Amino acid sequence: MDIENILYQKQIFVCTNDRKNEKPSCGDHCGEAVFTELRRIAKERGLHPRIRVTQVKCLGQCANGVNVMVYPDGTWFKNVRLDDVAELARLYLS
Ligand code: FES
Repeated sequence: MDIENILYQKQIFVCTNDRKNEKPSCGDHCGEAVFTELRRIAKERGLHPRIRVTQVKCLGQCANGVNVMVYPDGTWFKNVRLDDVAELARLYLS
């Protein structure tokens, strides 16, 4: 095992899990689209990968999706919608 300091100034984790309506999931509210748009903005602004937008496959709060966690801030956004991406970008990608 090798250990090194965290490579990123900030990581934004976006849940993209889609359970296809079998159970509640972030996919019910376009988690994939939220992730794709945030990452596109980060790249467009030259922030990626210093500020890394990462997709994850469940944060354990499926009924409150879309879930977004920001580290090292320790901030958790729930019930995120595609319309909220501009505000997230203003907060973390400007
Ligand atoms: S499906 Fe997104 S938190 Fe579980």
